[in-house]
Parts: sequence; C-alpha cells; structure tokens
Amino acid sequence: MKKRMRSIAAARRAARAPDPRPDGWPLAAPFRIGDVAIENRVVQAPLAGIANAAFRRQSRRHGAGLVVSEMISSRALVHGNARTRAMVEIGADEQPAAVQLLGVEPEVMAEAAVIAAEAGAVAVDVNMGCPVRKVCKTGAGAALLDDPATGAAIVSAMAKAVEIPVTVKMRRGTTPDRARPAEVARALVDAGAAAVFLHPRAAKDEYSGTADHSVTAEVVEAVEVPVIASGDVVDARSAVAVVDRTGCAAVALARGCLGNPWAFADIVAGRPPAVHDLPEVVEELEAFGDDIAELLGERTASVYLRKFYPWYLADHDVGGPTLEALVTAETRHDAGAILHRIAARPLAA
Ligand SMILES: Cc1cc2nc3c(=O)[nH]c(=O)nc-3n(C[C@H](O)[C@H](O)[C@H](O)COP(=O)(O)O)c2cc1C
Repeated sequence: MKKRMRSIAAARRAARAPDPRPDGWPLAAPFRIGDVAIENRVVQAPLAGIANAAFRRQSRRHGAGLVVSEMISSRALVHGNARTRAMVEIGADEQPAAVQLLGVEPEVMAEAAVIAAEAGAVAVDVNMGCPVRKVCKTGAGAALLDDPATGAAIVSAMAKAVEIPVTVKMRRGTTPDRARPAEVARALVDAGAAAVFLHPRAAKDEYSGTADHSVTAEVVEAVEVPVIASGDVVDARSAVAVVDRTGCAAVALARGCLGNPWAFADIVAGRPPAVHDLPEVVEELEAFGDDIAELLGERTASVYLRKFYPWYLADHDVGGPTLEALVTAETRHDAGAILHRIAARPLAA
C-alpha cells in the first residue's frame, strides 16, 4: 500500500502545466456518443466495487463529462437480484451516466440493457476487458476478445433492444500475441457499437507496465466512432499527450481519480494538479462518506471507505500508524475522529 501511495504522490508531483493551445484546450470541448451530448472529454472509467452512485455523483460534481458504473452482472440483473437492480439506478445528479454490463449471452445482455435504459442509463457498455479468471472462464470480460463473433452478437442484440447507444470497453487482447485490437474493434462497431473505450494493456498484463497508446492510435484509425482512451491518464499533461498521440475523442480516468476527484476539473481546465490541504481533503472525504453511508448503510460504508483513506492522503505526510488506524477503523465515526485530528495538525514544512 505504501509503495502504491508513493507512486501516486510521485505522479502528482511530476505533473506540470501543459502548453497553451491556439485552438483551445482539447479536453474541454464537448463531444457525442450517438445522440448523447457530453460536455467535455474527460470520462470517469468503470471501476468494479467502487463506481457506485455516490462515487459517480462525486465524479460529476468534480467535472467528469460522463460517468460509468461499476461492471454489473447481466444475469443477476435479469434474474431480478435486488442488490444488482439497485446498482443500475441512476440519479438525475449523476447524469450523463452509462451502465457497464458483464455477460456472454446476447439475449441476457439485451434484456439487461433494457433494464439499464429504463433505470436511466444514457448508454450501456459491454465489458470486454475484465481479466479476472472467474469471469474469463465463463467466456465474458476479456475472453470475448478471443471470440469477437460472440462479442459482435452481444452488441448487435443490445443495439436492437435499446434506443440508447451501446458502447464496448476492450483491452488490446487477452495476450499481446493474440491481440487484434483494430480488427476486433471494427467488428464491434459494424455490429452497432457507438463508441469504443480502449485500455491498451493485454488482459494477461492486468494493470502492470505502462499503457501503450500506439495501440489506441491503431484503433482510432480503424473505426469511425469515438474512441475513449483509458490507461495512465492522471493529469492534464498525460491526458493531452494521449489525445495528441492517438487522436482519441476523449480520455477516461480510473486509478488517477481515486482519492483525487479534483483531477477531472483540472484536466478539463488544462491546469496542473493542485495539492489540496488536509482540511479540504477531510471535508471532501466526509461529504463523500455521508453520501456513501446514505447509499450503502453505515456498516458497509465504513468498510467501503477504508480503501479510500490512503488514496486521499497520498499527498500528505501521514504516518503509517495513523493510516493503519484509519484502514482498520470499525466505524465512520472512529475514522472521522482520526481525520479531524490530523486535519487540525499544522502541515509539515
Ligand atoms: C479497482 C479497479 C476496478 C476496475 N473495474 C473495472 C470494471 O468494472 N470495468 C472495466 O471495464 N474496467 C475496470 N477497470 C479498468 C479501468 O476502467 C481502466 O481501464 C484501467 O484501470 C486503466 O486505466 P487507469 O490507468 O486510469 O487506471 C478497473 C480498474 C481498477 C484499478
């Protein structure tokens, strides 16, 4: 955890202001996915176990142009699982929001897309990137990259079932050797995909190494629909570098917005990331925590929030024992007392 925090802090420190652009800042311009108008080109990526309604609302409040749900099982949704059904409920204050569906059966995915559209999704996305073995064993997630015919059948069935745009989120392939990203993306667009999210790592590589956006450029070249680049975008400088390199329509942030919801507005504005002082960080965390508790209930919220404390505090000189106390706090109240104590402390020089 410490290593991860150090790398987040280093990435933020390394960020510098991008050059001013004569034609305006590209990430601030609106774009469209099908008929859906999106006010800027900075998207909150799907994040399993994280991107619930409160998280999406926070991302929108901080300027994300579009937010995407965590991956949601199409089977569980169609079978009427109450918890899964609640996961696709979209509030007016998170719009525009897309729902990402996981599954392999075209009819089930189409039925799930109808439920998501009725619950308020402006678009439905097909997960073709999840590298988890349990998922891939069923033929879903990244396994669909080795079976583009089924991927295309899923997209086609969903596009026939709903009027909102169907998008796909894919990786370059299951392994670098088997990857045919341009060909797969083209087949999915021919089947009706209105946009492609591309995370250019192979599933086998999970999240290691750097994202090779020359693969994104290949996919941009291959399809006529917007491509949203996902991978290692953390600030305005890395965002515009990906846009310049690939010609993508937009960028998506996943790890870069964890503990840093301010990243969205910074990237939209083209400004370097500010370091937010501890009182401001604590205030944001508490507002988010209140929203999470309302959504999940106090017990589940206190567990959900544990992973966020190190992310939010990565830029601050908070000692190991304090972090340990935060991530093991039984209640939000206990964690809140620790946060208030560190926020009241004078900042280290
Ligand atoms: C904790 C975590 C959960 C993720 N969950 C999903 C998911 O549910 N669906 C999906 O398509 N991608 C998921 N991803 C992949 C991200 O959306 C993104 O493509 C990837 O992390 C690369 O972007 P980054 O470098 O900004 O993190 C997840 C990534 C992380 C780190």
